This record gives sequence, C-alpha cells and structure tokens, in this order.
Amino acid sequence: MKRENYVLIGYMGSGKTTAGRALAALAGMIFQDLDLLLEERSGMTIPEIFEKETEKGFRDRESALIRDLAEEGREGMVYATGGGAPLREENRTLLKKLGRVVWLDVSAHTVIDRLAGASDRPLLQRPDREEAVRTMLTDRQSAYASCADMAVRTDGKSPGDIALEILSGWDKKPGRGE
Ligand code: S3P
Repeated sequence: MKRENYVLIGYMGSGKTTAGRALAALAGMIFQDLDLLLEERSGMTIPEIFEKETEKGFRDRESALIRDLAEEGREGMVYATGGGAPLREENRTLLKKLGRVVWLDVSAHTVIDRLAGASDRPLLQRPDREEAVRTMLTDRQSAYASCADMAVRTDGKSPGDIALEILSGWDKKPGRGE
C-alpha cells in the first residue's frame, strides 16, 4: 500500500521541525527538514545564501529542491518546509503532490516569543522585527491556506500534541483516512 507523506508548512517558529520529528517518530516515518537539506546541498548556511545570492537566489534553490523531492517520489516521509516555501505557486502545486499538506498556524505573539534572540533567520534581522512578523504573517495567510489540506493551531502545544492532532485530524477528514 502506498504510504502518503506529510508536508508541514507554516511561518517561522510555528513548530514545523519539532512537530515534524514527533510526527515521524509516532507514525514510524522518516523526517526530513528542507532547510537542512538545502544547506547540505549548497554547502552554505541559509544566512550565507541570503547574503551571497539574495532572497531570490535562496528561493530559486528552494524551488529546485522541492522539484527534486517531488520527482524522487519517496514514501513514508514527513517533510518540514521553510516558512516561505508556499509563496510561489509552482511550489504550492509541488508540495501538494509531495503529500498531505498540514499548515501549522501560529500567532505573531508566539512567533515573537519563540524567535526572540534567534539570529539564523535573515528575514527577521531588522530592528522592527515584531512589526515585520505581524505584516509577513498576515501577507502569507492566503498562500498557506490555499496550499493546506488541513490546519492545526500550534500556540501553547507541545510537539507531541501537535503530532497527535495531525494524525487524529487526518483520520477524521472525509475521504482522507486510509
Ligand atoms: C523563511 C523561513 C526559514 C528559512 C528562511 C526563509 C521564510 O525556515 O527557510 O530563513 O521565508 O519564512 P523556517 O520556517 O524553518 O524558519
């Protein structure tokens, strides 16, 4: 039987990596983080890519990686995507092909709390970080919503809670359970 993948999307700090690991452990699947894969492939950290190639260079690399994963066609995978992956329409189409897309929805307040002091997110290295988070989150809602098969609110929840909610939520989706 074909084992569908899970693709976690959502803003920075929404819990994609931690919940993705918990989900993979719970479901006996393999976890892959697209940001880490991209860093391994390019031999640069994400801040280095942004610095040397600008955001456009990073986005092109991200799209190429998503294309390759979709082509690879692996099964039984949990993929955590970078927060901006669903912004390009081409990526949204491929992410849907890659598996069941779960949007980890989060409030600006939680993001600001969780990412306080983080220096590895180039888009947030600015003095007006809080305002930038609020604006970006609002601007991205429609891209996340149009890509997602289901949404889970992650504020105040542990990675294990989120993983369980994804698994049980999926089972309850009409026509979606296996
Ligand atoms: C980005 C999110 C980051 C990383 C890059 C851009 C974004 O991933 O891909 O810094 O545009 O939201 P995380 O969501 O894993 O932090």
